[in-house]
Amino acid sequence: MNEHEQYALPASQLLKWVHDARERTLELVSDLTHEQLTVPMMEVVNPFRWELGHVAFFYDVFLLRALDSGALLLKGAENLYDSFKVDHDDRWGLPLPSREETLAYLQRVLERVARRLESRDPDGKESYLHSLSILHEDMHGEAFTYMRQTLEYPQPRPGSRRPARRARRDRAMNGNGKTAIDAGTFDYIVAGAGSAGCCVAARLSENGRYRIPNDNPFVSVPGARKEIWAHGFRNPHRLNWAVDPANPANNRLIANSVGLHTWETVYIVHKGENHGYGEREGTELLKPDNTTGPLPADDRIPVRIGAEPTGRMVVPIYPVIQYGHDPKGGDAIGSGFVYNGKAIPSLRGKYLFTDLTTGRIWYADYKDMLAADDGKPGTLATIREVRVRWADKVYDDMFPVVETTYQARGGKSPKLPPRPDFVKGARSDVRFAIDADGELYLYSKGDGMIRKVVGATGFTGGSTAQD
Ligand SMILES: [Fe+2]
Repeated sequence: MNEHEQYALPASQLLKWVHDARERTLELVSDLTHEQLTVPMMEVVNPFRWELGHVAFFYDVFLLRALDSGALLLKGAENLYDSFKVDHDDRWGLPLPSREETLAYLQRVLERVARRLESRDPDGKESYLHSLSILHEDMHGEAFTYMRQTLEYPQPRPGSRRPARRARRDRAMNGNGKTAIDAGTFDYIVAGAGSAGCCVAARLSENGRYRIPNDNPFVSVPGARKEIWAHGFRNPHRLNWAVDPANPANNRLIANSVGLHTWETVYIVHKGENHGYGEREGTELLKPDNTTGPLPADDRIPVRIGAEPTGRMVVPIYPVIQYGHDPKGGDAIGSGFVYNGKAIPSLRGKYLFTDLTTGRIWYADYKDMLAADDGKPGTLATIREVRVRWADKVYDDMFPVVETTYQARGGKSPKLPPRPDFVKGARSDVRFAIDADGELYLYSKGDGMIRKVVGATGFTGGSTAQD
């Protein structure tokens, strides 16, 4: 008996599993629009087409080629989908096949796998390789699920697989998450991201139909996307309005952009601005090796359309707030709001925001942010850390609150699931939200809770918010 015999399984069982896994995979992607397939470069997501092709590739290499030693069913697949060879951040720059071609590759692989199983019961070794590939597809089913959650796509509907359909307006073009609160004539949305640093903020029309406003800054620039309102962000995943009820001309669009390796940033966004990514990160030079350094004496950067330089140069517009990827900072900025509610007068005029991995909370005086809104790297608003009172104890941040609740609600591991690359070795996923009255909430994916902020003390220096 060979060493794998203990793994031998009936072909009928494996066939059921493989069809099952595939059905789930297709359910998780079949409703996605063309726009939704295009995702911003974020640590926890992959391009959907990459992820799909990678599932097919795994069967192709570790099952079919391992047993038959034939050619791969997609020529050159090893240069696209081998996760050991192709680094995460490079997956956005690959010449990936279209959705249809990728699904056809999955189908070819499935048919070949099924043909093997329909011809005879596999031995232990072959059964093992089938199981491995099926479990791998299941694992990527989990990845599709959390990618959809991260990108705030609607829940898939198991059992209701249907052909791809057009997005409704509220989901159209929304690259990575949150549509900003409407503060006037237009919605602004965020779209795109990636190694070329081509994140944009664009806008949709007032009557629910897609329209590009005539006064958008790049409508008459040949080759440029006419939707672009401002650009040069790495990942402006939260846009929110600071609204002046007395004078709409004072409304300001605020973007929270997740950094690469060094800086988390808040920008006040104006029409046509270039915020510098990927030549700058925060208020520093971003070097080709992704580290940062001092700004050069000549602080101009080339204006590009796509990857092509236009020959024009521009001085980038720098953030109004930033904090570092270090033990006092965090890893990824969450959402933030200028408090405009009535329940907690001492918070009025404060901009509160979170770091979503560490669960830290800071605030800045909104007037300091406006003062720092001069585009210059040397002017940043002062930020102060906020402590949290929860269940009659004061915590430095939300992390222990989320971890305690995670455990109390039956979390499987003694701590929040580990992420060794993060400042705290795990991720609490804490963000702010507001309701129609402008009151603040903290919601956290780490423990699945929404908490209302009900009070605040000491909001001039060291401060405490509570739930
Ligand atoms: Fe994988």
